[in-house]
Amino acid sequence: MSDLTGRRAFVTGAAKGIGAAIARRLATLGAEVIVADIDASGADALATEIGGRAVALDVSDSARVEQAIADTGPFAILVNNAGVDQHAFFTSTTADDWQRLMGVNLLSVLATVHGALPGMQAARHGRIVNIVSEAARVGSKGGAVYAAAKGGVIAFSKSIARENARFGITVNCIAPGPIDTPLLRAGVARGGDKLLAAMVEATLVKRLGTPDEVAAAVAFLASDDAGFITGETLGVSGGMGLGGS
Ligand SMILES: NC(=O)c1ccc[n+]([C@@H]2O[C@H](COP(=O)([O-])OP(=O)(O)OC[C@H]3O[C@@H](n4cnc5c(N)ncnc54)[C@H](O)[C@@H]3O)[C@@H](O)[C@H]2O)c1
Repeated sequence: MSDLTGRRAFVTGAAKGIGAAIARRLATLGAEVIVADIDASGADALATEIGGRAVALDVSDSARVEQAIADTGPFAILVNNAGVDQHAFFTSTTADDWQRLMGVNLLSVLATVHGALPGMQAARHGRIVNIVSEAARVGSKGGAVYAAAKGGVIAFSKSIARENARFGITVNCIAPGPIDTPLLRAGVARGGDKLLAAMVEATLVKRLGTPDEVAAAVAFLASDDAGFITGETLGVSGGMGLGGS
């Protein structure tokens, strides 16, 4: 795996779950990691553990995000991982739900990318990795707005990849399947063991993924080895994207 020594990375939603695994992995490879999360004490704890720096912010606050990036950048690596979902049929959702889900899952990505791109363009190097979901590609019963937001991130990433290839900047997405994190466990607590079994069944490998398995893919896409890969969405989903069986 490539050495990331001297690379500065901004990782959102990094206090726990997949984001924490990504922050740990990038730090292990030598990167200086900014742990950005709405959970200030969780971000502090992880930053202390990995020798990084914590920034407390709500990623849906675009002005705050751009300011935080200006204060802590420039960045060689940007990982948009923070996300929230909601389990409800679309007819039961409200306009407030749509704003919240779009703000955290989609508008946050616009803000971080807007903040980070000038520094990457000046350096003529950059790696942007956006964590989406297989829901963006196959849809989600009970997660229509979440899937729409994540699908928006995929489309946005392709456009940013087109605009920035000439600056040595790559932009890719990772689409996790069911990964064993606090987010997934909260869903299972609401939906019960039947929901957990259905998630496992939807994969070809018949198990949940681990945060580390997503982090490994992020580290690869953030490395120099991945310089010829851009505009892609990589499933880390145990084959879920094929439809299961
Ligand atoms: N776990 C899964 O099965 C799964 C599947 C597909 C996609 N994903 C995606 O992976 C990403 C990480 O998911 P996870 O399972 O680790 O989630 P998680 O809930 O376990 O952790 C999410 C982290 O993001 C932070 N966060 C939430 N809202 C925030 C906000 N407004 N501003 C800043 N930080 C905020 C939380 O404090 C937490 O530290 C998300 O984008 C999620 O949509 C997860």
